[in-house]
This record gives sequence, C-alpha cells and structure tokens, in this order.
Amino acid sequence: MECARNISIQSADNSVIIASRNIEKSVAVVKKLRFETQNADIHAFILNLASLQSVRDFVEEFCKRDFPPLYGIVCNAISGGGEATADGFDMTFGTGHLGHFLLVNLLLKQMREGRIMFVSSDQHDPPPFIARLHYVDALDFAYPSKRNHSTKYSFTKLCNIYTAYQFAERLRAMPERKISVNAFNPGFMADTGLAKPQNATERLLQRIAPLLASMMSVRSSAAMSGRLLANHMINPEYEGITGKYFDRTHESKSSKLSYNRENAINLWNRSIELTKIQAYESIFQDIT
Ligand SMILES: NC(=O)c1ccc[n+]([C@@H]2O[C@H](COP(=O)([O-])OP(=O)(O)OC[C@H]3O[C@@H](n4cnc5c(N)ncnc54)[C@H](OP(=O)(O)O)[C@@H]3O)[C@@H](O)[C@H]2O)c1
Repeated sequence: MECARNISIQSADNSVIIASRNIEKSVAVVKKLRFETQNADIHAFILNLASLQSVRDFVEEFCKRDFPPLYGIVCNAISGGGEATADGFDMTFGTGHLGHFLLVNLLLKQMREGRIMFVSSDQHDPPPFIARLHYVDALDFAYPSKRNHSTKYSFTKLCNIYTAYQFAERLRAMPERKISVNAFNPGFMADTGLAKPQNATERLLQRIAPLLASMMSVRSSAAMSGRLLANHMINPEYEGITGKYFDRTHESKSSKLSYNRENAINLWNRSIELTKIQAYESIFQDIT
C-alpha cells in the first residue's frame, strides 16, 4: 500500500492497480488512497498468487479493461504457513516465487517499456544460525515439506533474485522492449505482518530482530521502504538499470550463490514446468 500511495502521489497521471487476494481489503485501500492522494485512477483487482488459475484470471481481466500501456509491476507478496497452494505447491515458494513468475511472464505480453521489481530480502543470504541454504533443484522446495519456515523463506527470496536476473538477461536480448528488471531488499520492517514465528528460535529472533537491525543499519519501516520502492518504479535516477540487486536505495551485491547462472536457468526451466506456461502466453522462445 505504501508503494502504491507514493506512486499515486508522485505520478498522478498514472493508473495504479492494487492486486490482492482479499477484494474487500483492497477496495477499502483504494478508497483510502483515492481520498488521500486525490488520484481517482486507482483500482482494486483480485489476484491470489497461491493459485495459478487466479493469476491467469487476473491477467485476462486486466487485458479486458481499457488501461493505458502497462509500465510497472511490483512483485511483493509473500506467504508463510504450512498449507499448500491451490495447485499443491509449498505456500511460501508457490506464492512468493511461482505466482510471480507466471504473473510477470503473462503481463510481459502487454509491456513495451517499463520497470519490474522483485521484492527480495537480505535473508536470501541468511546467516548459518538462521538457515543453511544450498541450491540443488527447485523441486526440493516446490512441494510442502517439514523444512523450517526460515529456510523456505530464504530459498524463495533467493529465487526472486534468480528470476529477476533471468528476466533481465532475456529482456536485454530484446532491445525493442525497454524493460528493466531488478531485485529489491526493503530492509527490516518491524511494522508489517510478515509470517509468524514458527519455533522457539524464530520467536527469539523476532524479539531481538529490531535491535539487531538497528545495529546493522538495516532497520526500516513499511512507509520508508514503500517510498523507496516507489522511487525505483518511477524515479528517472533508476532509468535503464537492469539485472541488479538494490539494498533499499543502493545497488549492492547479492549473495555469491545468487550469481550462479546455472541455478537460475534450472529454476527458470523448473518454473516453466511447474506453472505449465504455454508458448502462446509468453514472449520468450524457450517456452514451448
Ligand atoms: N518485513 C520485513 O522486515 C521484510 C524484510 C525483507 C524483505 N521483506 C519482503 O517484503 C515483502 C513484503 O513483506 P511484508 O513484510 O509486508 O509482509 P506481510 O505484511 O506478510 O505482507 C505480505 C503481503 O503479501 C500478500 N499476500 C500473501 N499471500 C498472497 C496471495 N496468495 N496472493 C496475493 N497476495 C498475497 C499479503 O496480502 P494480504 O493483505 O491479503 O494478507 C500482504 O499484502 C515480501 O516480499 C518480503 O519478503 C520484508
């Protein structure tokens, strides 16, 4: 919401879409933002990223409406919890990675220029006492398992970076489309509803996290990070920068593992398989 608010204020001639699984909640947010920003061109759409059918329905509905050309996509959703998605995938991976992967692929058909941002996290590279992260095959994390939530979360955030780097690489080879794709770490925001701690270690971490975040200068808030994210989407300062990882305002290095191109391609191919995306739905030739 904070990102949408800032885009609506700074860029009043743009249409803004709030896509959410809870239509009542997003209609209320739209009403509030229209009033606060005096921008009437803000709309609520239903989108459940934990259902591949819902992603397809959202894109179909979006295409039916008479909006100006699509310029920006922010992939921000994350979901914890042990349940499976509508398609039987692990909820964290299914929502945070697969849903966004399909969404961006489908929407790219509507885009000629613009910016796409995958919201990741510094936890894509977790300290070993929080999670031990290796990448062997995305199938290891695709289905519900008894792995702890921190590891699933970190893996999904790593996938967001691989995906941003892969989209950027593929779009660089299509100069007729001037689209940049990056990954963003919003910093530690203690005022959001990020997945509840699921064990004693996570409960302890949640208590000390604000202090640790301040000490490590990664503390932020939803309002602050939402504003920075909006800047990435509309500020001329970021024009043309693609395939990068931003720690809030600054271009930064992501983890060593995140630059493994073989893993990124493996994830891309697995994601095509798992989402069953069809050639006619995509602009990329390797989707057959
Ligand atoms: N909080 C932090 O300290 C922190 C740090 C680094 C990175 N991040 C990243 O920042 C992003 C936002 O996280 P947050 O802290 O704002 O977490 P949050 O409060 O839990 O928000 C998650 C958002 O995802 C949406 N969502 C969940 N499942 C969905 C689904 N199936 N379909 C559509 N939307 C769905 C939620 O919608 P509802 O409103 O319907 O629940 C909510 O808007 C995430 O990508 C997270 O990894 C957060």
